Formats: sequence, C-alpha cells, structure tokens
Amino acid sequence: MDRSQAKQCAKELLKQMTVEEKIAQMVQVSYADVTREEALQWAKRGAGSFLHVLGDNAREIQKAAGQSRLGIPVIFGIDAIHGHGLNDHATIFPSQLASACGWDPESVRRMGEVTAREVATDGLHWTFSPVLCLGRDTRWGRVDETFGEDPYLAGELGAAIVRGYQGDDLADDEHILACAKHYLGYGEATGGRDSYDTEVTERKIREVFLPPFRKAVEAGCATIMTAYGSIDGVPLTASRRLMHDILRDELGFDGFVVTDWDNMNNLRNRQMVSTDLSDAAVKTANAGNDMIMVSLEFYEAMLQAVQEGKADMASIDEAVTHILTIKYEMGLFEKPEKTGKPGCFGCEEHLDAALDTSRKSVTMLKNEGMLPLGDGIRRVAVIGANADDVHAQYGDWTYFTHPRPDPEHTPVRPYVTLWEGIRAICERRGIEAVYEKGCSVLPDDGDDLEAAVRAASSADVIVYAVGDVIAQFGETHDRADLNLSGRQYELFRRLKETGKPVCTVLIASKPLCLNETAEQADAVLCGFNGGMFGGQALAEAIFGELNPSGRLPISFPRHSGQLPVYYSQLPGWHGGKYCDLPDSPLYAFGEGMGFSAFTYSGLTVDDDLLLTVDVTNTGRTAGKETIQVYFRDDVSSLVTPVRRLIAFTQADLMPGETRRVSIQLNKESFALIDQNCETAVEPGTFTVYAGHSSKEEDLLSTSIVL
Ligand code: NOJ
Repeated sequence: MDRSQAKQCAKELLKQMTVEEKIAQMVQVSYADVTREEALQWAKRGAGSFLHVLGDNAREIQKAAGQSRLGIPVIFGIDAIHGHGLNDHATIFPSQLASACGWDPESVRRMGEVTAREVATDGLHWTFSPVLCLGRDTRWGRVDETFGEDPYLAGELGAAIVRGYQGDDLADDEHILACAKHYLGYGEATGGRDSYDTEVTERKIREVFLPPFRKAVEAGCATIMTAYGSIDGVPLTASRRLMHDILRDELGFDGFVVTDWDNMNNLRNRQMVSTDLSDAAVKTANAGNDMIMVSLEFYEAMLQAVQEGKADMASIDEAVTHILTIKYEMGLFEKPEKTGKPGCFGCEEHLDAALDTSRKSVTMLKNEGMLPLGDGIRRVAVIGANADDVHAQYGDWTYFTHPRPDPEHTPVRPYVTLWEGIRAICERRGIEAVYEKGCSVLPDDGDDLEAAVRAASSADVIVYAVGDVIAQFGETHDRADLNLSGRQYELFRRLKETGKPVCTVLIASKPLCLNETAEQADAVLCGFNGGMFGGQALAEAIFGELNPSGRLPISFPRHSGQLPVYYSQLPGWHGGKYCDLPDSPLYAFGEGMGFSAFTYSGLTVDDDLLLTVDVTNTGRTAGKETIQVYFRDDVSSLVTPVRRLIAFTQADLMPGETRRVSIQLNKESFALIDQNCETAVEPGTFTVYAGHSSKEEDLLSTSIVL
C-alpha cells in the first residue's frame, strides 16, 4: 500500500485508540534494559517499538503485541550500522568512513541491500542507519560512523545506502526502514565533545549540515533520529523549528521521527530545560518527535500531562499517525514479521559484496617505490597489534561492542586480518612471513619491542600496522589528543633504524596524527575499520593484487591543535597558519593514489553546464580514477568556502588510455545560503575545478559566468 493509503488507514485506527494506547505507541523499549516479563507487559500495553532484540525473543514480543486490545504490530529497530553486526553471523562491512573511501554510491547501496536482507531475516524491520553527521572535528568519537567531512559526498552516499536498505517497496520481505541520523549538527559539537552544544547559525546549518538529510529525504528515507545535543542552546529534542518546520514543511519529510537514547529524560536531567518529566514529555512531543527511545517514563509523564490539560493532543495524534502510517505501508498488519531470505547470512553473494567494499576502501597515501612488493622479496615482517586484531578491524557496532561490550565474544569466521591476508599471499608465493605484535595500541606491560625489531631485522620489508582500539572511539569516547597512543611511535623509530623499507598501515576509526610514521615511511596505506575482509584487501594492495583506488573522504591533521582541517574552509587573510605548524593537513580530502598515475587536460564547461575533461592513465597498470569537481564563488555577498565538492564520477582506464569524461552540472549546485537564510545563486563568475583531489595542485580550473 502506498503512503497516502497507509495514512488513511492510520487515521481510521487512531479513532479507535484510547489515550493510553496512543502514548504507548510512541514508546520504544530497549530489550536489553528490561526483564523479559517487563518487555512482554510493554508489548501487551501497546508499545510501538522495541530495539536491540533478535530472533525468537522478537517473535515472542510480536506475539504478545498481537494479544493487545488492537493488536498493533511492533516495529523492531537495531543498529545495523555497517552490516547487521550485532548478530555474530552477519556479513560485516567496512565502517561508513572506510566505505566512503570508495567514493562509490553503488557499492554503498549494495552494502545497504545486503544488510537489509540479513536484518529482515532476523525478523526485524528497521536499522538506525545511516549516520549523516559530518566528521569535521575528528576529536569526536564517532567519526568512524560518518561518510566523512563533506556534505555533498555524505549526501550522495547517504541517499545510496537509504535506497539499498529500503528498496522500492517497504512491504518487501527483504527490505527494511532506514533512519537518517543524528538530526542535526551532532558531529560538530564544540570541542568535538559527544552530545554537547553545536555553536552554529541557521545559515550554516542550511549550508553544511542539512544537505545530506535533504538528500536522504529525497531518497525516501522513512525515519529520522533526533540528535542528543543542542544548537546554540536549543536542544534538538525540543526544536520544533528544526524537527517540524524545516524537516517536514521544507524538506517534505513524511515518515516518523525517533529520539536518540533517552533524549526526553535528558531535557530535565542534563540539559535542564524542563522542571519535571511531564514538561519534558510535552516538549519532546510538541517539537515533533514521534517515537521516544528508551525513556519509558514518557508513558506516565505524558498521561499526567494529558490529565492536567498540559499536553497537546494534536501532537500526540500526529505522532501516532506517522508511526502507524509506516506500519501500514510496511504491511505489518497483515504480516508482522519479515521473512528476509533464510540462509542468506554469510552467503557467497553477501561476502562478495563485503569484500568488494573492503577492496574499494583501501587508500594509498604514499608510495616511494616500495609497493607493490615484487619478486625480490624473500621475507616479510608484519608488526603491530592491529595487524592481527579483528576487533580493531571491525571497529564499533558489532557483537564485540553492543549492546553490552563483550570483547571476549568468540570472533566468528570468515574474516581475514592484515596478518592473515599477508600470510596467505606469502604462502602462495613461497615468501616467508613473520608476525610480531611489538606493542599494544594502549600502553601494556606485555609490549616487546625487541622481539619486533628482531623479526624486522631479518626481513626484507616491514609492514607496520598502527591505529586505535575501541576504548579510544565510539559514543562518549572523544579524544583531545589524536597522536598515536602507547609506544607506537617509538616502535616505528626502532623499525626504521633497521634500515628496512617500512609500509605503515592505518587500521583505525579515523584520521590519527601519523606524524613520522607517515612522513618517514616508505609507503602509507589507510584501511580505517575495513570490515571482515579489510585485512585481505590491504594485503592484496601491498602485493599488487589490487590496485588501490580509495580517496580520502576526510582530511588528516598533522596535530590535534590544527583541527578542524576540513578542506572547505572559509578564507582568511593572514594565511590561516599557526606559527608552529603549516596550515595544510597531512593528507587532504580527496587524496589517494594507486599504481597508475592520471593526468588531466582540456577542462571546459559549456553554457549548459556540461563539464568535459580528458583524463589519461599515464601509468603501466590499469586503474580507477575518481574525477572530482569543485567550485568557488569568486565574489559573493558573504564569505564562502575556498572550494566545495559538487560532483564526482569514476573511470577505469587502461595504461595509456585517455577518456573524455563528461559531467552534467546544475545551476543549483552553485548556490549559497545568503544572510537571510535564503538559497541563492548570486550572478557573477565562478571558478570550476576538476581533478584528482581537493588540493589546488591536483586541479585544473576554468571560469564560468552565471
Ligand atoms: C545511541 C546512538 O547515539 C544512536 O546512534 C543509536 O542508534 C542509539 N543509541 C540506539 O542504539
């Protein structure tokens, strides 16, 4: 049934509901935080949704909901963030940040599709994904969950994954609801501190943070999650302007909104804008939150508000209508459980999709002739804790980390760590390979630098994995210091002293300050949290079985004090430098190299805004180039970014091949948000850039007049 028919049904059902049933429908219960009996009671009372419950437990809840007076089906939500990772047999993809390195909407769409199928097979309906916050202050603990720093790239990939999750029909057995989160500005909270206030104006919200959500809404995203924090002192949970006026009236969002974890209680407990829970409940509902995640107090508090005449029944009715509409559209009243595709967990098709995404995520940032490792190599030393740690490779939001952190959970195969990937290739090629951890990521008594140096000394080359571990990232785990922790720099120095070439490999949640481990390395590869096959993909790149084609979706700082270093900064006039550090990032947005090299020529943009440029593979290997298009508004009514990404495409080129690449631009891409918060393309000249990365030296430019 389509959305308008579903809305009609929802309105009819609403007429039969008591106030208690309506309020219960707005409640979302965390299964892990109540007893089984309490969960069943909530289901019978008519709770609208449960989260973090799988398989038979979910079925039992659904059955209990069927026994409630109106038998309204429950909707089950889960954090299937990069694969359905809370189920230990699921296919685990690279993190959003790692998958964004592929700059490939199609592989991200497929990641959504595979995830949806596995989630649906567990009988669930809804994933709290994608994250459309931007990773611009990389001290923030959740940068791994973003598609990087840029609104355009995040919007393109966000829309793609939404399409993958939802397919064409929400009633389809293999598709689920997406949830674009966290609305809004969460990623740029002051100081990179999780859930804090974001000091931005509405103009900047519209220019930077809103566009990815707009694209998700245009892609049909059925649900949105409200962020924890506040913007300029207004809690998102209580912002009717953002939740209702902008999201629904302007963007045309027509699904339902769920709060983040316990947002309602925190209006009173942390943000101190409510005197009591009843007031918090009313503010939450009036702002436009339809479903209340885990604040079970909402039920009594809202009932009290209704009894005291303080509640706005229209807000409650609207919220319930939004939720029921989606339930009807999903066909849950006829068939409350999705069947998914039995047997699909870890099937060949799904594993292939994960491997493909991992391969596309591998980003080479430096190569001074070391890679690919060639015929002369007899012995390889692999060093570093993250080279053989599936936890580090998976990152956040898997069965090791949620809903209760369980690092002891036995890792379920198949997965391939970097060490295992290298060992497998070495075995095949008759090369000797040794592994020594050397040091842990966090300081550890078991560190044995000498053993690592011994192993390295007798090898021809060294592959050294550096990075972070889950204690250093994720929700509430922001870092003030992005330097490598423990003895990772010291170990690098010791390895360098052996005189052997060193390839540094970053297996981490985000850009860390690599410093000498990059500057003095012979090669640098970035894998972030590469999923099940992240290690295999990196190993293939090291041996040239994969020509790395990843491009950074985020800039690397040289030092935490340099943050933010995102590329689309506004210009200043004293050079923007520190006295003690360059202004440039260590690696810039869009950077990445392969074993082939590309040159650009003949950039033109015609009157219809058709951009054309010739791209040549000047290398001796076939390779994939990502053609990136940026612009600058030459003169405008307010200060605008030095460059902004407005388009990209990819081309696979054979050695020596030149391809004429055309990209249709559109006038709206050149808009700014003016001082009145209106979207406008201000007439005048614009510089259009096309090339290999966001760095000036990697771009050709031409001028257009609009
Ligand atoms: C809190 C997180 O901020 C959000 O991203 C997640 O979806 C919910 N918890 C549910 O686990």
